Amino acid sequence: MKTTLIRNGHLMDPASGVDAPMDLLLRDGRVAEVSAPGASVTGPEAEVIDASGLIVAPGLIDIHVHLREPGQGHKETIATGTAAAAAGGFTAVAAMPNTTPTNDTPEITRWMQAPERGASVRVFPIGAATHDLRGEVLNDYAALKAAGAVAVTDDGHPILHDEIMRQVLRAATLEGLSVIQHAEDTRMTGGCSMNAGPTAFRLGLRGMPPEAEYGLVERDIRLLTELARSTKAVPHLHVAHTSTARAVEAVRQAKRDGLRVTCEVAPHHFLLTEEHVGAYDTNAKMNPPLRSAEDRNAMIEGLFDGTVDAIATDHAPHAAHEKLVEFERAPNGITGLETALGLSLRWLHQEWKMPLSRVIRLLTAQPAGLLGFAGRGTLVAGSVADVVIFDPGAEWAFQAKDSKSKSKNTPFDGWTMLGKVRWTISEGRVVYSA
Ligand code: DOR
Ligand code: ZN
Repeated sequence: MKTTLIRNGHLMDPASGVDAPMDLLLRDGRVAEVSAPGASVTGPEAEVIDASGLIVAPGLIDIHVHLREPGQGHKETIATGTAAAAAGGFTAVAAMPNTTPTNDTPEITRWMQAPERGASVRVFPIGAATHDLRGEVLNDYAALKAAGAVAVTDDGHPILHDEIMRQVLRAATLEGLSVIQHAEDTRMTGGCSMNAGPTAFRLGLRGMPPEAEYGLVERDIRLLTELARSTKAVPHLHVAHTSTARAVEAVRQAKRDGLRVTCEVAPHHFLLTEEHVGAYDTNAKMNPPLRSAEDRNAMIEGLFDGTVDAIATDHAPHAAHEKLVEFERAPNGITGLETALGLSLRWLHQEWKMPLSRVIRLLTAQPAGLLGFAGRGTLVAGSVADVVIFDPGAEWAFQAKDSKSKSKNTPFDGWTMLGKVRWTISEGRVVYSA
């Protein structure tokens, strides 16, 4: 029986509304007690963590990460990616299926969760929606779900054809699974490596029009509307890494219309614009790309007005040699697990005055609710003992070279972060401390 008492901290649990000095007792991987300071009595065997001056919050949840295993272990492994997650305060991550081979099967889904992978935090695999992410033949969702898949997606690729997307939505709904769409009409983005706009023009690069994203989001919402009319179940469409103003507006309207349409925004899309591509900086290349200032502002507005349901990193590690090539040849993606909290606190909270508890909610209870992670994203008694303890006032400079991730491809190297993770506890075990 393992017992840990976290004393003298300020408990912030948006799901239960607790925002007060409280002690937290963890036992056998669960929250045993939430009590007034000094009220919990433990035996001498208990580990005691002094959280004076610190915030004690539910472990953060990232519903969009690429852990690269199986098959691309030179970029990241499940062990290194989850170590980066723990350092960033995350205790659960949802792993995308664009591995090698693609996560099309229950065997791979189980392999990703096996103890031999050496994960520091809980990994929830997301199954591929279609075979080899080709948008043609649906995988076996019942089998994927039985093996532990929490949603289906072709992330990295869209599910482009109307009839296939209809089938995906219908089949996922039958299994009670969410469909996560990478909204990019690739008929408009061939040969493009950044956003269409003045920077692409200056650099002589082909640009992706915003329509390629929002057009597909609007199409998906139409298909979801048809399906919702014809079934008693509530189909769930989740829009990954939303980056354009009109996509956020489409999600806003769909919510008003009573549909279960949700979306996430990555820190780089609420902080950076296409200008950060600078002089062909491949660490500012990702898909969807950095957009205009109006789009970036719409992400912030969506976070504030509740249209955006979660902050998700789209942690996408790539090796240095892969990024050190001409801009157009470089792979898309940046790492994000160790900077999401520090950037969110520095900008959303300190700069733009979002209440701390709302920032935490966007990183905990809301993502947990999105994919149905029962017992996570909250610290009520009985829930999973996933906890992050951080110093909310500490400012520090993120150094990519010190990252736990195997890859260092981040545009935030040297940026000032607010809030330093001091302990991350996953299912009752300390998996990171600093
Ligand atoms: O930037 C991205 N990186 N976007 C994607 O859609 C895929 C991802 C990756 O796997 O590297
Ligand atoms: Zn992704």
